[in-house]
Amino acid sequence: MSSAPMTQDELKTLVGRAALAHVVRGEIVGVGTGSTVNKFIDALATIKDQIRGAVSSSVASTERLQALGIEVFDSNAVGELSVYIDGADEIDGRGHMIKGGGAALTREKIVAAQSRRFVCIADASKQVQALGAFPVPVEVIPMAAQRITRQFAAQGGQAVLRLKDGAPLVTDNGQHILDVRGLKITDPLAFESEVNQWPGVVTVGVFAHQKAQVCLLATPQGVQTLQ
Ligand code: 5RP
Repeated sequence: MSSAPMTQDELKTLVGRAALAHVVRGEIVGVGTGSTVNKFIDALATIKDQIRGAVSSSVASTERLQALGIEVFDSNAVGELSVYIDGADEIDGRGHMIKGGGAALTREKIVAAQSRRFVCIADASKQVQALGAFPVPVEVIPMAAQRITRQFAAQGGQAVLRLKDGAPLVTDNGQHILDVRGLKITDPLAFESEVNQWPGVVTVGVFAHQKAQVCLLATPQGVQTLQ
């Protein structure tokens, strides 16, 4: 008898659990944000006595970690982390990612930069040949949103202000998000560097400088490790 195909939720659970193998026991782990990371946090709770705690990339992840009894440290109170575990909206074959679908990109990049190793956890639908089909999230200072929208338009991109309940979404940092479609990202490193220095851009959701060293990819056949 053939079994039913795994759902995307089951694939996320699978990869969330697989990430435990990358957690360094006795240390503080960097924790990302999103539905895949939520599965990781649930798995992390089963070994909470074997870690010191976590540095979190969002209010949502902090609340989930604390509810499960995992101590959350201020990023400024700890040094370099051995590992950061987070999801992605897209990941290419070189570990470059688009992130920020959950609006947590700025803190995600901060914790990633504080960590020696980025382990990306994703289901196979996130794997792409080239970045850019997923709209690129960009966290911006609200007063710069219109000018940044015009700067993207000059590059062929259509930027749309992200809304929540009919009003501009406000990030954990009190800023807004533009989602940019139609961009051709042939050189993710150069793209990230360029957009990062536009006045009013807080963070661009291309993670090429803070790329993943390892990608755990959940497939119906099991979890593949790409590095
Ligand atoms: C949040 C992120 C997430 O990692 C990304 O959106 C993937 O989320 P999910 O695991 O829910 O698909 O960057 O800002």
